[in-house]
Amino acid sequence: MSNVSQLANTLIPSEIIKLGNEISERIKQGNKIYNFTIGDFDPSIFPIPTLLEQEIIQAYQHKKTNYPPANGISELRQEVSHWIKRKLNLDYDPGSILISGGGRPLIYAAYRTLCDAGEKIIYPVPSWNNNHYTHFVDGKHICIETSVENNFLPTAESLIPHFKDATLLALCSPLNPTGTVFSKEQLIKICEAVIEENKNRTSQQKPLYILYDQIYWTLTHGETIHYHPVGLYPELSAYTIYIDGISKSFCATGVRVGWAYGPSEVIDKMKGILSHIGAWSPMAEQTATANFLKNEEAVDTFLASTNNKLAARLTLIYEGIKQLKSEGYPIDAISPMAAMYLTLRFSIKNKKDPEGNLISNTAEMTSFLLQYASLAIVPFSAFGANKESEWYRLSVGTCPIDEIPIMLEKLKAALDRLQ
Ligand SMILES: Cc1ncc(COP(=O)(O)O)c(C=O)c1O
Repeated sequence: MSNVSQLANTLIPSEIIKLGNEISERIKQGNKIYNFTIGDFDPSIFPIPTLLEQEIIQAYQHKKTNYPPANGISELRQEVSHWIKRKLNLDYDPGSILISGGGRPLIYAAYRTLCDAGEKIIYPVPSWNNNHYTHFVDGKHICIETSVENNFLPTAESLIPHFKDATLLALCSPLNPTGTVFSKEQLIKICEAVIEENKNRTSQQKPLYILYDQIYWTLTHGETIHYHPVGLYPELSAYTIYIDGISKSFCATGVRVGWAYGPSEVIDKMKGILSHIGAWSPMAEQTATANFLKNEEAVDTFLASTNNKLAARLTLIYEGIKQLKSEGYPIDAISPMAAMYLTLRFSIKNKKDPEGNLISNTAEMTSFLLQYASLAIVPFSAFGANKESEWYRLSVGTCPIDEIPIMLEKLKAALDRLQ
């Protein structure tokens, strides 16, 4: 018998944290590691917008230190409403918007608000943290394995067989861990299927809700276009809950301002849950974010500059990997589309490391890359994908651009040593 709850006892530890410990150990031993594991930004390379920083300082100087309203300050909800109208052509009034201390509490609140124990929750793998949120609500995990052919996003064909009796379809685009996005055609088919499913449900049943996590939507590169359910089918607004915030868009992971919007009755219940948890975003940060969003030019300039910096890094690594592939090395990559992530493949299973040890599974592949190429990246299996997957997430949020050529040279040298 455990002295803590069943829930606490069965929480799955983060695989990325485990890998992080191994990396720290190597760094402590004096090794230089090219650490591309972190889904965060190095503030010396990707600082938050100067105006946002100044506004935060000023807000504290103006003593913005009280409890905020449970759904967030009205100025910020108003600015979010303008921002999503301006950029996404979405019509949500401030009453349908909920502010919280980042995206995480809002995702948790959405799961808690919509799902009862034992209900079916559908999510693709690899994906970020849906397994943990489903565990929190004791939901039935319906994991849909995705493949490179669809850029690791789920297809309608793979989802539809699971729709019957399901409560929640958790989608994310641009996707963590891949940095890939739904094509318009892919998302249209899914949206149409959800509409059809909900037409067939009675008023006694819950609808099938879509949780649409688009926290990376401003970080698109090249020709990439971000699509989202209500933009394609306005009637989906009755059962779509969007998750967004400043963590990734404004390189502000530690500032803690996120927002959700959706049907006001759902948003209101989410507010109720979060106010008991107290997961508010601080007053000063909310005030500052509202003032920053008001300055459209500063926002657009910041986004353009951040995207240029991210795209330059992603493209440089992608080109390097493609070059190695063309030279016959057993690696591959998906062309960068969005966010700070690049999807890489290492087909090095069943080869031997320089000491003659067989590389027989993903953990050994990851260790080989760390030990011989000083390259730290996260296997998709850490995001719920098949344990045999050869695919990895590489994050450039903490990457000094001048280190990339050196990292690629080291990688090539390590691959040369495979037997
Ligand atoms: C897909 C996705 N959604 C939401 C979040 C949560 O962001 P935060 O709680 O930092 O705002 C993250 C963070 O990594 C993420 O990758």
